[in-house]
Amino acid sequence: MAKRTIVIMPGDGIGNQVLPQAIRVLDAVGFEADYVHADIGWECWVEEGNALPETTIELLREHKVGLFGAITSKPKKDAEAELNPRLKGKGYQYFSPIVTMRQRFGLDTSLRPCLSFPGNPLNFIRKTPGGGFEEPKVDVVIFRQGTEGLYCGVEWSNPPRQVHDALRTHPKFKPFENVAGEDLAISVRIITRPAARRICEAAFRHARQFGYKSVTICEKPNVLRETSGLMEEVARKVQKQYSEIPLWSTNIDAQTMWLTKNPEDYGVIVASNLFGDVISDAFAGLVGGLGFAASGNIGDEVAVFEPTHGSAPKYAELDPPIVNPIAMILSAAMMLDHIGEREKAETIRNAIAAVVAEGKVRTYDMLRIPGGAKSIAQGAASTTEMTDAILDRLGAPVEATMLSAAL
Ligand code: NAI
Ligand code: MG
Repeated sequence: MAKRTIVIMPGDGIGNQVLPQAIRVLDAVGFEADYVHADIGWECWVEEGNALPETTIELLREHKVGLFGAITSKPKKDAEAELNPRLKGKGYQYFSPIVTMRQRFGLDTSLRPCLSFPGNPLNFIRKTPGGGFEEPKVDVVIFRQGTEGLYCGVEWSNPPRQVHDALRTHPKFKPFENVAGEDLAISVRIITRPAARRICEAAFRHARQFGYKSVTICEKPNVLRETSGLMEEVARKVQKQYSEIPLWSTNIDAQTMWLTKNPEDYGVIVASNLFGDVISDAFAGLVGGLGFAASGNIGDEVAVFEPTHGSAPKYAELDPPIVNPIAMILSAAMMLDHIGEREKAETIRNAIAAVVAEGKVRTYDMLRIPGGAKSIAQGAASTTEMTDAILDRLGAPVEATMLSAAL
């Protein structure tokens, strides 16, 4: 097979610590690729007024597959304050590079698997009536629509007159009609039928391919009658082509309440942008949190894989680094799945499962101790040591029982 070129975007903070670890694992598993570095993140904003430079867009367009670490982003006022003085007052506006990337390349399927690895001390446990506890196995895959919804970017503070006039045509705008412009902020939630269909189809396809027993549409159609209503209507239509897979429907608020009641009952969950964001972080919390949460942003042509966590600035300068590289390494495994290297991806996941089950090497988050310069002295593995442990278990036989439980 021709050698692949992967665009690597470490970004800011701990993105620079974890991404090289993922490449060590990809190398060790025999994935042959060239890696081309691309800039993204805060420095790009400060120096160029654009957190996602065109050169990075071009590299992604050319090579199609990206591995992304994390970026730092800051509220509007802070972003403006930190902009290089030579760019100030020239109309530069900060946009999240990952949101922009999703929109530029139509990366409309945001895929977030949440799988509990047996033996992970961070796994969710539940009290049983007898006073004991049980650890339900969580294996949920969230399909979040990545380009529309409340994150579509159509928003105003002090909306212009035409917008105001348009809103006045809606009877429910009456209570807001006389609110002063500067006291009014509006974000629009846009859902289109084609995008809703694509995400619902992707969810059902995945459920069928990997044998999940249900697809749940997680919205709020009783209140957001138009937008959530459309998502739900489309999900019902798509389900008709998948008669063996029932469609369940939950409301986002109730779903977060049920999260800890019966997380093992859910399989594939599909949701619009904001609700998918919320529910994927919520489920990630049941299976180890940010150190374990991987994701993919997938479009027709381009796909970018990234851990869910951010740049964790408070840990960025620690030497040796202490953050957990597993979320990044799992994201690299998702990339391998995507490009048809499933066996290598499974080898990586097996190695992670083995290290977690063994329990000898644990980063600070897995030990539930505070992160900081003292974590290592308190018994935590460094970022590199965790990767070393995973490398040691690559290809090593994994007990059949553990494997089937973990995957
Ligand atoms: P964060 O995810 O960077 O960190 C929150 C906390 O989670 C950390 O302080 C740490 O305790 C823990 N954590 C994160 N990653 C970890 C890992 N790999 N191993 C162990 N523990 C880990 O979120 P925060 O602090 O809210 O944001 C920091 C910056 O990152 C902000 O500028 C934010 O905008 C940005 N961000 C970027 C994201 C991205 O690049 N996709 C996503 C989320 C936040
Ligand atoms: Mg998030």
